[in-house]
Amino acid sequence: MPLLQAAVLLVGVLLSLRTPPCSAATDTVSPGNGLAGGGRLVSNNSKFALGFFKMDSESLSSHYSSPNTYLGIWFNKVPKLTPLWSANGESPVVDPTPPELAISGDGNLAILDRATGSVVWSTRASTTTNDTVAVLLDDGNLVLRSASNSSDVFWQSFDHPTDTFFPGAKIGWDKVTGLNRRLVSRKNLLDQAPGLYTLGLDPSGVGHLAWNSTVEIQSTGEWNGHYFSLAPEMIGVAMPSFKFVNNDREVYITYTLRDEAAVVLTKLDVFGQGLVGMWMDDRQDWLIHYRQPLRPCDVYAVCGPFTVCDDGDAEAEPICGCMEGFSVSSPTDWEFRDRRDGCVRNTPLDCGTSSGDRISKQQTTDKFYAVHRVGLPHGAVKVQAATSGDGCSQVCLANCSCAAYSYGEGGCSVWHGKLYSVTQQQQQPDASSSSSSSGGNGDVLYIRLAAKDAPDVGRRKKKSGLSSIGVTIGASTAAFLGLLILGLLIWKTKGKTPENDQGGIGIIAFRHADLQHATKNFSEKLGGGGFGSVFKGHLSGSFAVAVKRLDGARQGEKQFRAEVSSVGVIQHINLVKLVGFCCEGNKRLLVYEYMSNHSLDVHLFNANGRVLDWSLRYQIAIGVARGLAYLHTGCRDCIIHCDIKPENILLDASFVPKIADFGMAKVLGREFSHAVTTMRGTIGYLAPEWISGAAVTSKVDVYSYGMVLFEIISGRRNSSQEYTKDGDYSSFFPLRAARKLLSGEVGSLVDANLRGDANLEEVERVCKVACWCIQDSEIDRPTMTEVVKFLEGLSELDMPPVPRLLSAITGGAPASAVHYYV
Ligand SMILES: *[C@@H]1O[C@H](CO)[C@@H](O)[C@H](O)[C@H]1NC(C)=O
Ligand SMILES: *[C@@H]1O[C@H](CO)[C@@H](O)[C@H](O)[C@H]1NC(C)=O
Ligand SMILES: *[C@@H]1O[C@H](CO)[C@@H](O)[C@H](O)[C@H]1NC(C)=O
Ligand SMILES: *[C@@H]1O[C@H](CO)[C@@H](O)[C@H](O)[C@H]1NC(C)=O
Ligand SMILES: *[C@@H]1O[C@H](CO)[C@@H](O)[C@H](O)[C@H]1NC(C)=O
Repeated sequence: MPLLQAAVLLVGVLLSLRTPPCSAATDTVSPGNGLAGGGRLVSNNSKFALGFFKMDSESLSSHYSSPNTYLGIWFNKVPKLTPLWSANGESPVVDPTPPELAISGDGNLAILDRATGSVVWSTRASTTTNDTVAVLLDDGNLVLRSASNSSDVFWQSFDHPTDTFFPGAKIGWDKVTGLNRRLVSRKNLLDQAPGLYTLGLDPSGVGHLAWNSTVEIQSTGEWNGHYFSLAPEMIGVAMPSFKFVNNDREVYITYTLRDEAAVVLTKLDVFGQGLVGMWMDDRQDWLIHYRQPLRPCDVYAVCGPFTVCDDGDAEAEPICGCMEGFSVSSPTDWEFRDRRDGCVRNTPLDCGTSSGDRISKQQTTDKFYAVHRVGLPHGAVKVQAATSGDGCSQVCLANCSCAAYSYGEGGCSVWHGKLYSVTQQQQQPDASSSSSSSGGNGDVLYIRLAAKDAPDVGRRKKKSGLSSIGVTIGASTAAFLGLLILGLLIWKTKGKTPENDQGGIGIIAFRHADLQHATKNFSEKLGGGGFGSVFKGHLSGSFAVAVKRLDGARQGEKQFRAEVSSVGVIQHINLVKLVGFCCEGNKRLLVYEYMSNHSLDVHLFNANGRVLDWSLRYQIAIGVARGLAYLHTGCRDCIIHCDIKPENILLDASFVPKIADFGMAKVLGREFSHAVTTMRGTIGYLAPEWISGAAVTSKVDVYSYGMVLFEIISGRRNSSQEYTKDGDYSSFFPLRAARKLLSGEVGSLVDANLRGDANLEEVERVCKVACWCIQDSEIDRPTMTEVVKFLEGLSELDMPPVPRLLSAITGGAPASAVHYYV
């Protein structure tokens, strides 16, 4: 859809705050020393500024200035000004006369409309002294306090957050006063009034992203001591460090910056996505490295009712279009990205014109229009009685409030009232263009339309419901985009045509020069692998990264971006996080979080490495299993790693294992999991089916994982000379282990460096799991999800048989069989 992309990229290029140049830099408003229209407060550390601002926006074709004046806080030194907090979002000053900020007679901080003499906004605190002052503190908190006693605080902006989560501020509940601090999205790109999305904690401490206070979009799960259980990416390397507190008086989450000097933005944007971004001085732009939900269309009702939402090529902004027969309800709001009213019918349904709601199907002239390849709306009502598509349509026609039906594998579903969150599924990727799957082809939704609006199917053949998208997006070229820029710039690389901007969310597109700089011209080599060399680097002087320079240009830019984007969305605590990439000319680089404790092989096999104690080994075994289980089943696209070995298991500062290089494997749609045909992987960890030429499944990873487990037990390579010298494979470790397991002597298998200090019950468990994992037939091997359960002790395992191929080695096995073991 090049048209759409071009339109999105053309949309506004600048959103600015019309703020006056800096005058006197004080951080305090005191009685008699107010702030008139032009002035501003600057925190003592110069990081934050407070003053009156107006939003306006520029695009190539138009300029729009909002008449609204707000009092707000922004980063003082960020030229692309971004409001972080606003006082009077719901009651802007619209007079031409600039308002004034002052301490009013009752000691409160107030915005005065000088034209009308009225108080537009006030802190409305009960002050107990008559010497109050308002101070903008170094952390961006505006406090109203006693001038003589700075700990006597009557009001603070941190207690009334808008859409931004300041470092050091709290999101959560004061259990004593009942104060609930939560983030609330803004109404649209220009209007600072509250929007419909909120992000906060419930009184038990679980986080919720919600729409209109009623529909839950995402829950964070419980705090597990390090992160919310459903948001493991919170402890990513580029993320701030979060702290959770739950006691008698309060429950909240807060965070501190790892680097005080960094300018970090943590907010809930107008599209209902939580994001964390960092200001990059060298680029003069924001870089967003975290977004949740990852795909814009996963945000409930993001396009409003009766729309089709398209993630497009995964830009930060959803592409919204009206359904056939509907038009944008409020074009101005729509332009400014307030989509709450969505689209409305062009023609009322026939049904509504009759007297009662008991209309028989014969009486209505309404028709159905098929919208193909979509994710179905929320709130389906199942109709068991209807057993055919036709029956289902009759059920829907018979009830006036029924707006759509769908008939598929799950039977008949109907929808009443407004249709929310219909999402466009991508076309089936073909091999050359993209391997990022959309999770299937989607369903067909039949929407009910007045006969007049229902296009004649024969006359107008349409592929999707995005009928009016060209119009609506085209119209927005006359508008702006503001924070959308944040998302777009991720893909903004020099000299790109819009068609090339394929790909993912939340990962950074680096310029080659940036990475050259970050790695000091690729001077500190961390290692080399089958795909290229890895170098250490530092981004913005703050966080460490590992930059992998891929050898040669293996694939076109489009496919590369597609693969990178599908890998970028995969995040799990036991997977190395992809931070960004670079794609310039024939240069292809990947940027990962840096793992300070190197790879597992260094610790297992190096005589002078640290000896990992048994419990750590066990935790590593479980962690790797979890990461693999996530790759195989947990994420949207099924991924087979194809090269599990100790070199690809990295350890972070706390020795948490993270699987590396999974992006190198082919990304597969679930239904195409048999598509890998070319051989990959490393001798010694290869499953037999690679050799036999049979199609492979995720069970090849299970096999390799089993081989790694043996090495974790023994602290030696399975293929070590010591086991296999003179072609005598009877002491080949996996074979020995399988036999010792049967005779109940696993103790003798454990790495001698542990000096007997190992939990033998766990050793036996690991050994059993390993033997099951390396069974000849993939059917006999457990799934990684089962492995996790076994290792966690949640289920029990039978004794495994000695794998046939393995035992064949001892007695003159065919050369090919020997080969892939050693
Ligand atoms: C303001 O910052 C200066 C140094 O930049 C420091 O000496 C001074 O104590 C600070 N004032 C307050 C009130 O924190
Ligand atoms: C505050 O009140 C005290 C007495 O209640 C008075 O003496 C003092 O002048 C007042 N200060 C200000 C700044 O109004
Ligand atoms: C300053 O205010 C705090 C909080 O209200 C109070 O506990 C403290 O006693 C006050 N200090 C003085 C010197 O008045
Ligand atoms: C949000 O909920 C309120 C009632 O809780 C309802 O009146 C309002 O229409 C809802 N807003 C939207 C956009 O549906
Ligand atoms: C139509 O459906 C709505 C929602 O399920 C229901 O409340 C109403 O009773 C139905 N009307 C008729 C006539 O069946």
